Amino acid sequence: MPASLPGRYPEVYAAASRDPEAFWLDAAKALDWSTAPSRAFDADQGPYGRWFPDGELNACHNAVDRHAEGARADQAAIRYDSPVTGTKRTITYGELRDEVATLAAVLADLGVARGDRVLLYMPMVPEALFGMLACARLGAVHSVVFGGFAANELAVRLDDARPKVVLAASCGIEPNRTVAYKPLLDAAIGTASHKPEACLILQRPHCAAQLTEGRDRDWAEAVAAARAEGRRAECVPVAATDPLYVLYTSGTTGKPKGVVRDTGGYLAALAWSMPNLYGVAPGETYFCASDIGWVVGHSYIVYAPLVHGCTTVLYEGKPVGTPDAGALWRVVSETGAVCLFTAPTALRAIKKEDPRGERVGDHDLSAFRSLFLAGERADPDSVAWAERVLDRPVIDHWWQTETGWPIAGNPLGLGLLPVKHGSTCVPMPGYRVEILDEGGKPVPPDTMGTIAIRLPLPPGCLPTLWGSDERMRSSYLATFPGYYDTSDAGVIDADGYITVLGRTDDIINVAGHRLSTGGMEAVLAGHPDVAECAVIGIRDSLKGEVPCGFVVLKAQVARDPAEIERELVAKVRDEIGPVAAFKLALTVPRLPKTRSGKILRATMKRIADHEPWTMPATIDDASVLDEIGASLEQRGIGEA
Ligand code: COA
Ligand code: AMP
Repeated sequence: MPASLPGRYPEVYAAASRDPEAFWLDAAKALDWSTAPSRAFDADQGPYGRWFPDGELNACHNAVDRHAEGARADQAAIRYDSPVTGTKRTITYGELRDEVATLAAVLADLGVARGDRVLLYMPMVPEALFGMLACARLGAVHSVVFGGFAANELAVRLDDARPKVVLAASCGIEPNRTVAYKPLLDAAIGTASHKPEACLILQRPHCAAQLTEGRDRDWAEAVAAARAEGRRAECVPVAATDPLYVLYTSGTTGKPKGVVRDTGGYLAALAWSMPNLYGVAPGETYFCASDIGWVVGHSYIVYAPLVHGCTTVLYEGKPVGTPDAGALWRVVSETGAVCLFTAPTALRAIKKEDPRGERVGDHDLSAFRSLFLAGERADPDSVAWAERVLDRPVIDHWWQTETGWPIAGNPLGLGLLPVKHGSTCVPMPGYRVEILDEGGKPVPPDTMGTIAIRLPLPPGCLPTLWGSDERMRSSYLATFPGYYDTSDAGVIDADGYITVLGRTDDIINVAGHRLSTGGMEAVLAGHPDVAECAVIGIRDSLKGEVPCGFVVLKAQVARDPAEIERELVAKVRDEIGPVAAFKLALTVPRLPKTRSGKILRATMKRIADHEPWTMPATIDDASVLDEIGASLEQRGIGEA
């Protein structure tokens, strides 16, 4: 790492590399421990080691109780702002502790104890945070499933996590419709082989759910009864290495990966990131406009701001349409947020509706200091636009569900480094990032390759996959021995700046949501009229990428292809969910293949994106690519 960079970053990064034990034991002092760790890392546990192997603590105590018992009792912990329901609510740390301790007592009555899993299928309402924190209080492991996933995806997660209890709401509210969750939950439990013992259902006034007798309980009634009896559950100290949550993310096969997050390492890394990366102090307001269904929401809506004693903003709305492109600026202004964290897609959506940034001027943003972006590649145009209209640092930072906190970013709290548009700046402490060639050898600066992280991963990153050390090894550690394979391609320049160029696997990023094209292909292939198919991500000016499916019908099929295409779009929506944004299904006579039968997806993508392409030497029949180009053109698909 070049020492020539300004600010404290070079010295801090070097300290973490030189003596990780001392660095992370020091970072861990930001937490309350029931048993303080005597050492930071044990290389002999787990697939590559475990952090704080002899420490004990409780995540809920660190996020809630220690503030509620101290000077922050009356400080707002959560500012809930829901333009889709016209509701605002402020919850102090004292009130949060009461809500969480009471709900934890309800969960304990349902048999939930340390190590048990609890699945949450909830929209962005305060009760979702109460649920996550109540699990943490009991030492139980939460697994939140994003509301835009369909019943089938929920069923897969039920079977893998095997939760004792499910926490769900009757519905989520999208600007164009109310999404009834309960029928999806019932369908998922119907098909899953694992059946939870109980479901606690939060009835929202917009859509009442029919409760299933014997299994479902009314959330409000259960909490009211526990409160009337004055019952509260206390925080259960757990090992720092105990799982705090399992969060499923798209893998390269249809089966999602259950990313395990430990307790101590995670909270230590988050606590370090708040002042040093985001430049935020305790008592300030932090606004992450993501969703609790994603890792960004777990880390920067829930745990990091609360552990750091900040006020967190819980926003149930969209960047545009609820009601307009000034929505995020309104919330920043009303909550006094010093930092906003969102996805580049949100910025593109705002820019499209308010190209001159006039809405920014409608609000008092005097407290606001910085905008952070992540989840997908931030296009330099949008970053430059945001810098211009906001007149504040706009920081692109890179991370993955697996890492739990940023791998690279511009550490505002240590002194802002020069911004290079298109780059996600420098690695955070503990991340020894290298670019490797196909043989696993480091390449010189400015040379593209796979981005890999030298083991061990820093605290906060996944120690393993749920129930499978072996899948952890084969998915991430086997390709390049001694490294974690990020499956992202990129370059590092002579200043140590990292640029992330795209995935090396079949994952695509649609509106900041991570999706597997392989998973979509499996759904299309399940249609009785489909002989074979290929799904690629094609460039989209709003969502970054959108999926496009090419299908070859079975020879004997005599039905109208347009009708089959409509069925395929509906099938992906039904089986994966609306979040897949799968709206383009094209029947084509043939798929382009190599002589050995491999589908030429990368070439198809270049054609769809109107990028220069060369004829692959191994192609079986070159005329198939013309057919693909013609069918895209005929439908007006693809952006130059
Ligand atoms: N529950 C149910 N359905 C959901 C949902 C949820 N929580 N979230 C999204 N959906 C649905 C949407 O309603 C939409 O359905 P539709 O096909 O009927 O319109 C579909 O899933 C696709 O959603 P999305 O891709 O998000 O597009 P959108 O048109 O609703 O919104 C943006 C566009 C730009 C406003 C939106 O994508 C956005 O806010 N993106 C930011 C993403 C983000 O914060 N990611 C987190 C990573 S940091
Ligand atoms: P997720 O696990 O949903 O957070 O998605 C992780 C993937 O999103 C990464 O592997 C990258 O491909 C992509 N990604 C996240 N942040 C960035 C960023 N700042 N720049 C480029 N790609 C990003």
